[in-house]
Amino acid sequence: MTESIAERLSVADARKADAIGKTVLLKGWVRTRRDSKVGFSFIELNDGSSFGNIQVLASKSLNNYDSVVKNLNTGCSIRVVGLVKESPGAGQATEVEATEIELYGAAPSSYPLQKKRHSLEFLRTIAHLRSRTNTFGAVERIRNRVSFSIHQYFQERGFFYVHTPLITASDCEGAGQMFRVSTIDPSNPPRNEQGEIDYSQDFFGKPTYLTVSGQLEGETFACGLGKIYTFGPTFRAENSNTTRHLAEFWMIEPEAAFYELEDNMELAEGLLKRIFSDVLEFCPEEMAFFNKQFDTTLTETLQHIIQSDFVRLTYTEAVDILKTSGNSFEYKVEWGIDLQSEHERYLTEEHFKKPVILYNYPRSIKPFYMRVNEDGKTVRAMDVLVPKIGEIIGGSERETDLETLQIRMDEQGLEKANYSWYEDLRRYGTVPHSGFGLGFERVIQFVTGIANIRDVIPFPRTPGSCEF
Ligand code: 4AD
Ligand code: MG
Repeated sequence: MTESIAERLSVADARKADAIGKTVLLKGWVRTRRDSKVGFSFIELNDGSSFGNIQVLASKSLNNYDSVVKNLNTGCSIRVVGLVKESPGAGQATEVEATEIELYGAAPSSYPLQKKRHSLEFLRTIAHLRSRTNTFGAVERIRNRVSFSIHQYFQERGFFYVHTPLITASDCEGAGQMFRVSTIDPSNPPRNEQGEIDYSQDFFGKPTYLTVSGQLEGETFACGLGKIYTFGPTFRAENSNTTRHLAEFWMIEPEAAFYELEDNMELAEGLLKRIFSDVLEFCPEEMAFFNKQFDTTLTETLQHIIQSDFVRLTYTEAVDILKTSGNSFEYKVEWGIDLQSEHERYLTEEHFKKPVILYNYPRSIKPFYMRVNEDGKTVRAMDVLVPKIGEIIGGSERETDLETLQIRMDEQGLEKANYSWYEDLRRYGTVPHSGFGLGFERVIQFVTGIANIRDVIPFPRTPGSCEF
């Protein structure tokens, strides 16, 4: 009955002062229930729409007070009709005086999310329920906001969102860390005369894999539409059990024709700053929570980064800094090595104490598609390093010269036949162009202060683990 005159609101909206005086209908999950001695119960209700709960006052005069209200446990789902009033309590603008409460689903005391602090490790084992916790609700709302900001950032600059394939025959990074996609029966595969598995009889008539990057296909669009970006899942069969690697992660890859390395750096720095300022502006409750629970320097660090310029440093200069640092690294630093996370973190955390864009890396440690510099020894690569995470962005200006590109493919042992379409971009109207990849989960780690990448993606896939 009352439902027809009650306005259906989210908890987020019912918490705002302008809801005062309205009769509302709320639906959500009970976080806690506390009974006062004077014939009242206080229910903390959350529906995921905001970090904070709304307090519902349930009086003994409700006809189901004894049968329903007094049995509401953490985790029960309910429907509440009531009047929004100004709250006398601190830290909340409103509360709801219930005129009706109805139970959708009970949650017995075996419900794993009881009112206490659970470890992130434990929550990982119940990833299907952890979105109901403060931490994961906040992580998901941050993921949502950052996704939105990324789209806005590129759309405002005339970049088109394009969709690159997930199944591919090419290995963009040339690292051989690909998951095979096949419908061949592993117990009885077709074989060729040499006794090898005959992939010409496989679903696509050749070996195929899940993509490690949409870049190569992205480049084809940049050489037609000018400025594009992708934002999609990416797969890497790297057997690294670290707090920064996933086998399935999301990557944002802009690619722009007529962009040189400098333009690429500007674009990357602007994107990160936009993300940081947007989470502070649009997710204040979530950010206050992360700042309190996970890293008390978080908001200060983000504000500082927004206001200052990133350091730009060549690989060669970085090697010099590392060699004269007096620091004893596990991996010895020599010109030509692939920098390890300890080196990257030293530069950004200790030496400069801010984000660093490293560029002009040795050609031998970077993929075939990066533009070779005039010195012949380095390529126009750029990695953006941030404190605590290390590499958050990897990108480059791309090789435009067909002959050099082919030499680089040979150097890296790539099957050129698979890349003739990519070579065509250099055969027909070749242009300078650049792009980069931002690891979405790494940026979420950075803005939340959460140490393990498994805790910033809903269902982490890592070596030996593919639950849910
Ligand atoms: O440096 P990467 O390998 O660069 C590329 O894939 C280029 N094709 C991008 C481009 O130029 N269009 O990866 C880019 C970023 C890394 O800096 C890191 O943030 C993230 O992707 N990343 C991972 N994130 C989580 N788990 C992994 N296993 C990751 N590998 C890379
Ligand atoms: Mg990289």
